[in-house]
Amino acid sequence: MKIAVFGLGYVGAVSAACLARDGHHIIGVDPQAAKVELINKGLSPIVERGVGDLILDAVTQGRLRATRSAAEAIAESELALICVGTPSRRNGSLDTQAVLNVAREIGEHLRGADRPYTIVLRSTVLPGTMRGEVIPSLEAASGRKAGAGLYVANNPEFLRESTAVHDYDNPPKIVIGALDPRTADLVAGLYAGIDAPRFVTSVDVAELVKYADNAWHAVKVAFANEVGSIAKAIDVDSHDVMDIFCADRKLNISPAYLKPGFAFGGSCLPKDLRALIYRAKTLDVETPLLTGVVISNKRQIDRAFDMIVEGGARDIAFLGISFKADTDDLRESPQVALVEQLLGKGYNVRVYDRSVRLAQLTGSNRDYINGAIPHIAEMLSDNLEETVAFGRTVVIGNRATEFRNAPLMMKPPQRLVDLVRTPLPKDFQCAYEGVNW
Ligand SMILES: NC(=O)c1ccc[n+]([C@@H]2O[C@H](COP(=O)([O-])OP(=O)(O)OC[C@H]3O[C@@H](n4cnc5c(N)ncnc54)[C@H](O)[C@@H]3O)[C@@H](O)[C@H]2O)c1
Repeated sequence: MKIAVFGLGYVGAVSAACLARDGHHIIGVDPQAAKVELINKGLSPIVERGVGDLILDAVTQGRLRATRSAAEAIAESELALICVGTPSRRNGSLDTQAVLNVAREIGEHLRGADRPYTIVLRSTVLPGTMRGEVIPSLEAASGRKAGAGLYVANNPEFLRESTAVHDYDNPPKIVIGALDPRTADLVAGLYAGIDAPRFVTSVDVAELVKYADNAWHAVKVAFANEVGSIAKAIDVDSHDVMDIFCADRKLNISPAYLKPGFAFGGSCLPKDLRALIYRAKTLDVETPLLTGVVISNKRQIDRAFDMIVEGGARDIAFLGISFKADTDDLRESPQVALVEQLLGKGYNVRVYDRSVRLAQLTGSNRDYINGAIPHIAEMLSDNLEETVAFGRTVVIGNRATEFRNAPLMMKPPQRLVDLVRTPLPKDFQCAYEGVNW
């Protein structure tokens, strides 16, 4: 393809070099004369292993050149990759000005022409930027509508500086957010030779994936360093600890615990987290991330509370009060904390939880249920259907299989607040609120 690459920094230079190597004809655009001159001399504008050789080959073979003129680049291409910077402003907000300038330039140069043109945003932008800023700017400047002669996608970049060419060829994934399948196919074709999982999705999902990735990577570094600081203070080798930690692919380095939903609880996570934070305190080791986790978890309970009471109903049916399905262990159940908040504010609550009810009648947890939480014990019902019918708002609190039937038992004006993403019947008529979706 004939491709214009806007922005010849780390992402643009690597993309231009690799795409030219793969047989495409690339014209790079950058307002910085020095970068343009370097490329045209066959030299890399960035220090990055392997890029210099690729640029020299591509320039020598006539598949890569650079210019400061957006007009020239657009005239000679059928697709543009936008790779300009999106830096932080002083207050932390994202500065999208360079992206919008390029969008406007491209749009203006397309105005009046009738050849189709595709614009792919590789810069990192927050969700909503494509729909709210980039596409309107392209449409206003070009006089075209997205999907009609003007094709738009975003395709976040996952390369890491210092191993950028290797990462380009071996990405963890290829994510394409597109408005239509034709554009998604076209963008996927750029990476035809690359073996990586491919995800074609909406532009908003693609935008947020990139932020979730980078936030997660940052959390991993901070987590390892907090564990490391505690380990050092007690003379334990942090690398021994984390080697074993990382070898656990079932619970640690895995999808476990990574789907948005309700707060964590139970007899281990809260207790052990508190003990570790307390130990760190006694060692004069600060653990703002671990401490923040406790705060974040409490906030999730408050968020669910706000969602439940927002509906205005006073009669609440609460399905599932143990911290996970099929256990009667109520120790530090966030669902219990939530029910207690509702009771404290005078809501009429009925609770259904088969495992807890069984335990109340027969199990070893009977004394705990009747002694420690008698106010909840007396609300426990034996009958799912009756409990659902009682609630003007129905809350599904854990993943007990039988709660999949609860939505089928509901009818307007009942409202469902879902803490676990229960599958809904297609013709579900009631108001619905998911805790994080
Ligand atoms: N650097 C990375 O490792 C990396 C990895 C993944 C994603 N990203 C994202 O990719 C984007 C680019 O990052 P980068 O590190 O390559 O940026 P960079 O600052 O190295 O390069 C940006 C280039 O864009 C040029 N530019 C500015 N306005 C322009 C215009 N109107 N037309 C053409 N060029 C213009 C600048 O002169 C500069 O050369 C950012 O959104 C960044 O968050 C970066």
